[in-house]
Amino acid sequence: MVSTKTQIASFEFDNCLMNAAGVACMTIEELEGVKNSAAGTFVTKTATLDFRQGNPEPRYQDVPLGSINSMGLPNKGLDYYLDYLLDLQEKEPNRTFFLSLVGMSPEETHTLLKKVQESDFRGLTELNLSCPNVPGKPQIAYDFETTDRILAEVFAYFTKPLGIKLPPYFDIVHFDQATAIFNKYPLKFVNCVNSIGNGLYIEDESVVIRPKNGFGGIGGEYIKPTALANVHAFYQRLNPQIQIIGTGGVLTGRDAFEHILCGASMVQVGTTLHKEGVGAFERITNELKVIMAEKGYESLEDFRGKLRYID
Ligand code: SIN
Repeated sequence: MVSTKTQIASFEFDNCLMNAAGVACMTIEELEGVKNSAAGTFVTKTATLDFRQGNPEPRYQDVPLGSINSMGLPNKGLDYYLDYLLDLQEKEPNRTFFLSLVGMSPEETHTLLKKVQESDFRGLTELNLSCPNVPGKPQIAYDFETTDRILAEVFAYFTKPLGIKLPPYFDIVHFDQATAIFNKYPLKFVNCVNSIGNGLYIEDESVVIRPKNGFGGIGGEYIKPTALANVHAFYQRLNPQIQIIGTGGVLTGRDAFEHILCGASMVQVGTTLHKEGVGAFERITNELKVIMAEKGYESLEDFRGKLRYID
């Protein structure tokens, strides 16, 4: 019997696949669609304190090898997602869901996290330190000093299970420096990676999205090698209590298999979910199970992190 069950912190999930924050998670209807699919759980759109319109459209474009987006964190505000999750955890007490959030300033981030801390929310919280699309707001986790300070402040009051969504890093020294910070804190997971920020996609002589003169986060096939490198670099370095969620370039069961081989405990699907809809979860799960069966693996533990090197 092949199983794709997994665990993050003390929470169990029937399947290791879920959506990536930003795709199919803006409204309750979309979240219900993911919840009722073959996905093991869902994460909400990253919530800010108040409703945000986000950047002007067109702001998301599927392209042949992936996607480019500059959404600018449009969302319905924390209360919308938190109220829904509080209700859902009573209706489905045996399932766990993820709440994604970040403030427009460190102060707002603390306001959000204090609200979650004071609420009855029993799920996992993902603090998004990596959105590349809000004009004038850099990707927080590229600034190690600020990241360290925010985490120190957060863990002074936040006692619920918390993880962080990271941008891709591209230098071995940065993996070392980031890990030295993350290992100081009781993080439950890191999510590698958000889109590769500020790419340009051109058709004929024009950009394809309006915000920032066409600069946007790149997802899909383009980013799988970078995503896998980040998953594995952190798997090699982080305290084993900090688990990894792998995100980036998951089109097939083989892609999910590679993320797990690199050390991921959970795998998120973004661009492919946007292109294909929630049916992607069942297809990718079945493809992953076929690969596992062919290799004689019954559970993710049989191959998680067991990437082979060439001597
Ligand atoms: C966005 O809303 O701009 C995308 C979300 C993200 O990259 O974190």
